[in-house]
Amino acid sequence: MRHYRFSTTNIFKFGLTPLVKNKTTCYNVSCVQINVHNTKTRRWLVYGDYVDKQYQGEELSLEVADKCLKLGLLGLGTVGSGVAQLLLTNQDRIARRAGVGIEVKWALVRDAGKDRPVEYEVPLTTNINDILNDPEIELVVEVMGGQETAFTYIMDALNRGKNVVTANKDLLSTRGQELFATAEKNGVDLYFEASVGGGIPIIRPLKTCLAGNRVEKLCGIVNGTTNYILTQMEQGTSYEAALKLAQEQGFAEADPSADVLGLDAARKIAILASIGFGARVRADEVSCVGIQHLEPQDLVYARELGYKVKLLALAEQTELGLQVRVHPSLVPLNHALASIDGVLNAIVVHGNAVGEVVFVGQGAGRMPTASAVVGDIIEVARNIQGGVKGRNGCTCFDHKQLCPPDQIKDSYFVRFEVEDKPGVMAKMAAAFGAADVSLWSVIQKRQTERGAEIVIVTYPTPGQRFQQAIATLKLYPEIFTIHQPIIVEGDEAYVAGHH
Ligand SMILES: NC(=O)c1ccc[n+]([C@@H]2O[C@H](COP(=O)([O-])OP(=O)(O)OC[C@H]3O[C@@H](n4cnc5c(N)ncnc54)[C@H](OP(=O)(O)O)[C@@H]3O)[C@@H](O)[C@H]2O)c1
Repeated sequence: MRHYRFSTTNIFKFGLTPLVKNKTTCYNVSCVQINVHNTKTRRWLVYGDYVDKQYQGEELSLEVADKCLKLGLLGLGTVGSGVAQLLLTNQDRIARRAGVGIEVKWALVRDAGKDRPVEYEVPLTTNINDILNDPEIELVVEVMGGQETAFTYIMDALNRGKNVVTANKDLLSTRGQELFATAEKNGVDLYFEASVGGGIPIIRPLKTCLAGNRVEKLCGIVNGTTNYILTQMEQGTSYEAALKLAQEQGFAEADPSADVLGLDAARKIAILASIGFGARVRADEVSCVGIQHLEPQDLVYARELGYKVKLLALAEQTELGLQVRVHPSLVPLNHALASIDGVLNAIVVHGNAVGEVVFVGQGAGRMPTASAVVGDIIEVARNIQGGVKGRNGCTCFDHKQLCPPDQIKDSYFVRFEVEDKPGVMAKMAAAFGAADVSLWSVIQKRQTERGAEIVIVTYPTPGQRFQQAIATLKLYPEIFTIHQPIIVEGDEAYVAGHH
């Protein structure tokens, strides 16, 4: 802190013209905050304009404080480099919005010798203690990913009274309870907007803007990789070729299992359901079916019936409990999610007051994700300045019963390859009938090399009964293949199929 005494007539001698002329406390890159003290009235003036216009010639003291929020960035990969880049590109704007400048004091990496873009040069370290032991660092931004190490670092940071921003859905959806309890105990912030939906604001809208609602249903496309693959498959591309294309475009990892098996979406819906329904849901409690067994033919037939196939993440309160699941679904063409193609994500929230709200945008990627992380950083900066750290605590107040997956009532779309001979259809209908499953539609499609293709759509039925029918059908030698069943989204699913 430096103190100057001067009169307003010679204020410009300090080279602070832009700061004083501009009606802001935080103007330039070094983010200096100016407070001007009128020695006559003993009042502090914050804005330079007053000095110019109202207090000409009076003796004033000028306090110049280098005010800056220093943060430690854990990870400088896809998201971390985007965060560093954005903090630099929008430096002035961010400083004004945050009320302080924001500086990355250290970035933690595995390999400090790796080639990195230079435009956002930040000091690198491979030693976490450079960050954790630094009392100047008030905020730790975890964008390194992974489980154990990230968990240890975040817990350590929280226990040392540092605020944390993280994009780590894996961690939040499995060990969220411990993390939030620790943040609360230490009276610090834990923000995680980027953990679901990348650049789409969804966590804070759910926690704040929609907090007055009773959330009835959350339904989303929260994994861009699988949505890209399904969009390709709509054009007739095989699953394998679509996955390869996604990998070539950088939309899928070399090991795509977390995406295609639906595990990534399960982690995200666990986080959203916990917030939306005010009860903790862990990723391992989400029933999960991936897209790896779907074939282009499923998407073609679905389209003929008036649907698109999407991997939906759903959370809904039912009479039997809270159902939270990820499943390939037939989405009616007039549904808000039917037009969400490629890597885009979208989440539909149904609230008892607001009705339906749709959030759409880039669900991943360097700058969209950085946008969410930097939004959190600014929020933490504001909280620190306002002396209100830790106000965004955990909102999982209830313990909710989860609905057993086999009790959930759904309409199912399922494609069979069967021997092309009389009586097979009747046998299939009988098997469904014996399990008390009513059929809405039975359509014989094309001839295949081995026989005929049949598509069945059921009326809503508990999963258990549907599985019972499938188990019986698997025993029939006339039925060669039973493809991946796809659930039909919406109560009026079979009605939508009329279009
Ligand atoms: N990518 C996205 O679009 C996206 C979207 C939403 C959320 N997220 C989440 O954001 C997080 C980061 O993802 P990312 O795609 O940016 O990952 P990434 O590109 O693999 O970057 C990881 C960074 O963390 C560093 N790192 C990893 N383990 C470390 C360790 N043990 N010690 C020190 N440094 C370590 C790496 O250092 P080196 O550079 O030296 O290798 C690298 O800089 C993940 O939790 C992910 O789920 C990502």
